Amino acid sequence: MKILVVGGGGREHAIIMKLAESARSPELYCAPGNGGISRYAKCFDVKATDIPGMVALAKKLQPDYVFVAPDDPLVLGMVDAMQAEGFRTFGPRANAAIIEGSKIFSKELMQKYGIPTGRYEVFNDSEKAIAYIKAQNTYPTVIKADGLALGKGVILAQDEEEAVAAVRSMIDDRQFGESSARIVIEEFLTGPEVSVLSFTDGKTVVPMISSMDHKRALDGDEGLNTGGMGTVAPNPYYTDAIAKECMERIFLPTIEAMQKEGRPFSGCLYFGLMLTLDGPKVIEYNCRFGDPETQVVLPLLETDLVDIIEAVYEERLAELPITWKQENAACVVMASGGYPVKYESGKVITGLDEKGQLDGVRIFHAGTKFTDNQFLTAGGRVLGVTATADTLADALTQAYDAVDQIFWDNVHYRRDIGLRALAARQG
Ligand code: AMP
Ligand code: GLY
Repeated sequence: MKILVVGGGGREHAIIMKLAESARSPELYCAPGNGGISRYAKCFDVKATDIPGMVALAKKLQPDYVFVAPDDPLVLGMVDAMQAEGFRTFGPRANAAIIEGSKIFSKELMQKYGIPTGRYEVFNDSEKAIAYIKAQNTYPTVIKADGLALGKGVILAQDEEEAVAAVRSMIDDRQFGESSARIVIEEFLTGPEVSVLSFTDGKTVVPMISSMDHKRALDGDEGLNTGGMGTVAPNPYYTDAIAKECMERIFLPTIEAMQKEGRPFSGCLYFGLMLTLDGPKVIEYNCRFGDPETQVVLPLLETDLVDIIEAVYEERLAELPITWKQENAACVVMASGGYPVKYESGKVITGLDEKGQLDGVRIFHAGTKFTDNQFLTAGGRVLGVTATADTLADALTQAYDAVDQIFWDNVHYRRDIGLRALAARQG
């Protein structure tokens, strides 16, 4: 069996290392991949968004499955293009990936089907948006670009000045191009955030272990928003009672809604949830595995991932029991100093073995290059150092012990990943 994974970050490395554990012993390919991934899969220099290039690569490799991991190729229709050529592909088609590709689509879907989410209005005219903000006069308020914006399309405006500036740069200055021609202005929600990834074949939805991301760059949730500086799983705020409520009020209704709209969703659907005093509400949907959520969720998966991919593709997920290790996982992201704004690449990483690993932990490479038998930094987020253990405290200790053994010039990471989860567990 051969599998081609599209993408080249920590998430894709975690997917590939899970596939490498499969009893089906698949031959693994990745495009574009990275230095760490290249130690586990043959990598090809094709951009994740290059649909014709990726289809040509698939024609050459003839994989049994193509796994499209990142948001952009999914929203651009890579799954449709692969399927048109007869390749069995994991991931939603473009008409379902729109659940992440357009915030307006997802808000309208939730409103139409009564799925709990924050109140909102849609605007394409900055003057009307600003008049609405002034009339509301409640802060913080949330301003979101409709389309994909490299994870930077959400502004939590603390006052009128910030809100007006965000509206003007999105609509008038097209800060994110056509992605910000239309915006959503949304009610600010509070409560613990939970990420729940799920497998779905369009009919059945199987939630994975819950997780908690740490999005801000600095300790104490200070600094800029990033792609994610660390994760833990499971999320202690996500109790069995809340899981049941989410299944009934959010997960199943979403899958059914997509089906009724003629947009059946197949692949991994990510629910970004806020546990508010009025119950769980959807903050966002992602049409793919989260990064770095995948790095803590997949190591806890017991079931063979290849079997799941096959069951999803063949629409018989309901027949496959999926089981999880009763353990905890923690991932600490090591980044280049200056991330997410400006940083240097090409620094020599020390402390890793020839496979880019370290005993006792899993190192998922997010941005590395492997040349002359050395790993070099090649991105903002560089490594996701992940440990699993019976307790969260032990998983965190193991992950940070490993972090302490890895160096490069101007490395940056948070020291407080998982501390809030630990307090919640003990409290
Ligand atoms: P997103 O890019 O949609 O993941 O949003 C980034 C982050 O903004 C989320 O993880 C939340 O922490 C925050 N956020 C998004 N929408 C809201 C909201 N309505 N209320 C409060 N925080 C929000
Ligand atoms: N970690 C959040 C995301 O993948 O969107």
